[in-house]
Amino acid sequence: VLIPPPSLSAKYEGSFAYLTVRDRLPMILTKVIDTIHRNKNNFFEKHGEVGVDAEKRAISFLSKLRNELQTDKPVLLLTDSADDTEAWNRYMQRQQDLMEDGQPVSWFKSPWLYVECYMYRRIQEAMWLSPPIGDFDAFKEGKTSSFFESQQAIISLCTYLREILASTDNASKKWLFEHFFRLLQVSLWGNRCDLSISAGQENSQKSNPMDCLADLQQFILVDDSDKVWSVLTSAQGSGEGTEKTGVRVDIILDNAGFELVTDLVLADFMVSVGLAKEVHFHGKSIPWYVSDVNKQDFDWTISQTTASNHKHMSSCGVQWKRHVKDGAWSYHDHRFWTLPHEFCDMPAEAADLYSTLQGSDLILFKGDLNYRRLTGDRMWEHTVPFERALRGFLPAPLCSLRTLKANVQVGLQPGQAEKLASQDPEWMISGKYAVIQFCSPLKE
Ligand code: F6P
Ligand code: MG
Repeated sequence: VLIPPPSLSAKYEGSFAYLTVRDRLPMILTKVIDTIHRNKNNFFEKHGEVGVDAEKRAISFLSKLRNELQTDKPVLLLTDSADDTEAWNRYMQRQQDLMEDGQPVSWFKSPWLYVECYMYRRIQEAMWLSPPIGDFDAFKEGKTSSFFESQQAIISLCTYLREILASTDNASKKWLFEHFFRLLQVSLWGNRCDLSISAGQENSQKSNPMDCLADLQQFILVDDSDKVWSVLTSAQGSGEGTEKTGVRVDIILDNAGFELVTDLVLADFMVSVGLAKEVHFHGKSIPWYVSDVNKQDFDWTISQTTASNHKHMSSCGVQWKRHVKDGAWSYHDHRFWTLPHEFCDMPAEAADLYSTLQGSDLILFKGDLNYRRLTGDRMWEHTVPFERALRGFLPAPLCSLRTLKANVQVGLQPGQAEKLASQDPEWMISGKYAVIQFCSPLKE
């Protein structure tokens, strides 16, 4: 058995993991505390005195959490009784077993992926332990304003989609292929707009996303889009004579705001031109990494789009509602998406989810955090094949659409990483570079 390389961790002083735990995570917590406080009047007080007490209680939990983090205190067991609590506490024990010399699992000594996920779960714990405000999403405001700030870009993108779908020459294979590639890239670059890397500061799409694609092409370090295309098109044929009813694509969503719109546009295109019959969207069941999509964000985004004054934007919204209504689109969540495990743990930890994903013809994993979990957030050499870093996680053909925001990247050519590092020391963390990286269990 090959032993995988160590996890990224804040224990490597000066690393991006270290800077994140030292600076960005406390900033995010401070913002959450401020948001709760600011909503005292218009949200918590509505619940009367219990609401006011809940606000105080949540703030005191979160201040304590920030202090534990900043002083590198041991990580504590969760004390709520949600359906994932036990899985979290078991995982902590597993982290404990990995510590050298019996040192406690802590913010600056344990794997970055684990402690960062744990922070978001502790935020949720603070809410759950403060009824009646358990479902308050402190990141909601940020997500909605980033949607509004990207308004022009969203209009341009919706206009592009409606116009190409209305054009008369949409039957040729070349036409399909070209527009699919463009929309795949728009969805890729949409991933730059997340609010976690910016610690909750504004980060929206301002320019017309279609105009920059050609200039951005040079920053795509691995581009497997032709493989994505061939898996999609060959899946079309594979249904004949079998029980298969049509191609199913799964999108493991990342951020709300502009990125979600790019994903919906791509999904609308695939369904409208018949590249896919069904799209299953997977989102988070609790607020996560500042801007990640949950059910409320998904529904809100579609209704906002429907209600737009712009004719192409609103007709996109109407179309999206129809896709949901007639079952071509469906939204799913699963607690595994907000657990800290590497994806190679999925068959053991969430066998039901793994077998659901096995029914897909193509799984698109959006964003940086999904890439970190695909590769285990480990210090792989950059030339290690993607498939090896997946360590057996391959429920169906899959593709990561990710802008680089953490120190993990596999599947590069020999010398490629060294060249990038010499030109731009921040290449792995700035979100300037991206990959469209594919892997398939099917033999070609
Ligand atoms: O390090 C940047 C970061 O905040 C990471 O914590 C996380 O991997 C990522 O950004 C979130 O990005 P995305 O929304 O693309 O998953
Ligand atoms: Mg995200």
